[in-house]
Amino acid sequence: MKDRGRSFLSTTRRVILGAGLLNGLAGAGAALAAIGAGGSAMGALVAGVLAAALGTFALSFLVRRLDEVPAVAPETRAHDSAASEDPISAFLEAAPVGLFLLGRNGRVLLASREARSILPRLRIGTHYSHVFRTPEFVQAVAASLEDNVARHLTFASSPGRERVYSAQLAPFPQAAALDQARLIVRVEDRTEIRNMERLRTDFVANASHELRTPLASILGYLETLQHHARDDAEARERFLAAMTREALRMQRLIQDLMSLSRIELHQHVRPMEPCSLDELAAEAASALRPLAEAEGVELDVDLPGARIVPGDRDLLCQVFSNLVENAIRYSGAGARVCVRQAPASPAHPNRVGIVVEDTGPGIPREHLSRLTERFYRVSTTQSRNKGGTGLGLAIVKHILNRHEGRLEITSTVGKGSQFTIWLPGGTAVDTRNDAAGVTETS
Ligand SMILES: Nc1ncnc2c1ncn2[C@@H]1O[C@H](COP(=O)(O)OP(=O)(O)OP(=O)(O)O)[C@@H](O)[C@H]1O
Ligand SMILES: [Mg+2]
Repeated sequence: MKDRGRSFLSTTRRVILGAGLLNGLAGAGAALAAIGAGGSAMGALVAGVLAAALGTFALSFLVRRLDEVPAVAPETRAHDSAASEDPISAFLEAAPVGLFLLGRNGRVLLASREARSILPRLRIGTHYSHVFRTPEFVQAVAASLEDNVARHLTFASSPGRERVYSAQLAPFPQAAALDQARLIVRVEDRTEIRNMERLRTDFVANASHELRTPLASILGYLETLQHHARDDAEARERFLAAMTREALRMQRLIQDLMSLSRIELHQHVRPMEPCSLDELAAEAASALRPLAEAEGVELDVDLPGARIVPGDRDLLCQVFSNLVENAIRYSGAGARVCVRQAPASPAHPNRVGIVVEDTGPGIPREHLSRLTERFYRVSTTQSRNKGGTGLGLAIVKHILNRHEGRLEITSTVGKGSQFTIWLPGGTAVDTRNDAAGVTETS
């Protein structure tokens, strides 16, 4: 490979002298600028910088002896201490963009470090058909090599694989210094962006659906009230009550969506106010006693400790309210819900835990990993009937993320569920045993 790099560069040097270096590289700069113009602002910037760098490189070539440029294959230069002396190498190592240059025989002549990290199979000398085997890519490159026309395409790496790439192809000017060079390829791994876009569209679709449903019922009731039930006092009362219920559901949904977006906005800011975890959880659970009574559920709060964790009081309160409310609502009459400290676990070192446990129907295993997804419900009808929006556990997860905490869910169908939250820190004061000692558990 080293030899190939050396012979390639020595050929290059000879050609550079004969071909009119400045013109050629200015042309390459224009090709790269065209790539940038077709892509993102970052792409344009990088391509502009690349064009400028190549221009500078050309000028420096005119005043330096060509033999001073080390002849080392590009992919070996990353670890070469002399790399910084070679402007092309230094540039290709530093450029934060995936670029490679194809020769007229379709083989890779130069590649940036970013291109090699995006495509581990990419090597100097590799044929483009081995870089991606996807027919769209192979056909587009073959066509651009043939007709010298720029192309832009997005494609999956191979059928059945989930990675998505975009490639911009720009012909390399014939008069350029590198006479073998034919095509510049800018490649970008768009998998993460595609996943984010999918999440966003799913979210918008789900949110619209959740809002449309109660809105449609309200409109239906209104129409009935305006026509058939116009003079029916009893129906009017019933419909107004149903409309109020639906409107409240919409209000709850909007509140939850706003809450989620507020939490996400500050996702990376960890709240550090000292919070008494056990007291907070006990308060939040006790506020739900009336609901437990109404549902015929026994609520047992056993939190004598006073462990202090860094956090946001209101957000942590929201976590416990959501978990205890779920336990009460989904367990049904006759069940028991218990809120207590979780015993220390080696799986969660340096964290303290609180478990919300119920003797409800339990949750089938296949749902457990999806419960914290937005709008995910085990039974949509049951959750809707209970006024749920399907956002409660998504909010819990986001709040815990902000606190660098964890949520652990275990459940056995027919026996019940345990939702345990783990938070870092926890200066434990055990009030049960005389409250004298302060035990550092972190
Ligand atoms: N303790 C539990 N026992 C049984 N199922 C549960 C329990 N907690 C949650 N679930 C299931 O998980 C689903 C998601 O809960 P989540 O709290 O995210 O939404 P929700 O309760 O439907 O609506 P929201 O909390 O936004 O009002 C629920 O719809 C329910 O099917
Ligand atoms: Mg809920």
